[in-house]
Amino acid sequence: MPQTDPDFIAFANQCASRVENALGAHLPAEDIAPQSLHQAMRYATFNGGKRVRPLLVYASGLACGGELPALDASACAVELIHSYSLVHDDLPAMDNDDLRRGKPTCHKAYDEATAVLVGDALQSLAFEILARPVADISPGTQLQMIQILANTSGSRGMAGGQAMDINGVGQEMSLPELEIMHIHKTGALIHASVQLGALSAGGSPEQVAKLEHFAKAIGLAFQVQDDILDITTDTRTLGKTQGKDAADNKPTYPALLGLDGARQKAQELLEEALDALAHFGASARHLRRLADYVVGRTY
Ligand code: IPE
Ligand code: IPE
Ligand code: MG
Ligand code: MG
Ligand code: MG
Repeated sequence: MPQTDPDFIAFANQCASRVENALGAHLPAEDIAPQSLHQAMRYATFNGGKRVRPLLVYASGLACGGELPALDASACAVELIHSYSLVHDDLPAMDNDDLRRGKPTCHKAYDEATAVLVGDALQSLAFEILARPVADISPGTQLQMIQILANTSGSRGMAGGQAMDINGVGQEMSLPELEIMHIHKTGALIHASVQLGALSAGGSPEQVAKLEHFAKAIGLAFQVQDDILDITTDTRTLGKTQGKDAADNKPTYPALLGLDGARQKAQELLEEALDALAHFGASARHLRRLADYVVGRTY
């Protein structure tokens, strides 16, 4: 398991520090007006997230022969979109959650209007960071990266998946429909993380194609595991309320396949993801451990 691989643990810690330092520099200071919005943006970003998407950016970039500093902008951008998506996901109009990452959700710590604006502003900041001129990446590639993040976070990606989730409450959903929902609401941003990492690192079209296959499998596996943990992990460990999906009648993998069926699905997706990395050799070692972690994590 990844938790026992010191090489991976050191890499994961290094990546988390890098992205947190970079985010700290990009987010407006708390004493700049409007102070309450800027405080709430930091509250929603620095609250103990696992930083899996930045880790995917860095590990995918390394798999393509890149260097960590060229990956910081992409790592920040995907984590900002993710943090925004969680703030909105927790709002009363959506999942109505009080707890996120072990602390009161943004709209509880502040208020609903502030939480809506935090999401808006984090999203804008993500694109601003990606658009800044950088030495290592050509403007054409930067444009491509902006387009990928826009597509994967919009109505054809994460936001679309969230709409399917909300519309699916209390509805019978078939397995293919559930898969489409998960691929959009969670898989899309994970896919973007891998693509942005590969593109920032100058990955070849062949490398990008292989990594896309990896991303599709691991992106779906991530939400399958999220659904499992909602049932199996206590609120304290999870940092969010246990049993919320069933209480809200959400369509999930365990609801359709049972816990064992969902676990089996996660394992199959992990194997598919690892197979997609077969030709990468040692440069993808962190990406392999990260895939193990996505399916083996306990929160
Ligand atoms: C939770 O994502 C929401 C989903 C998309 C399933 P994470 O489990 O990555 O949440 P944090 O960032 O670590 O809190
Ligand atoms: C969230 O899915 C997906 C997002 C796009 C934020 P969930 O609603 O299952 O995420 P949690 O369980 O609240 O973190
Ligand atoms: Mg939700
Ligand atoms: Mg939720
Ligand atoms: Mg969930």
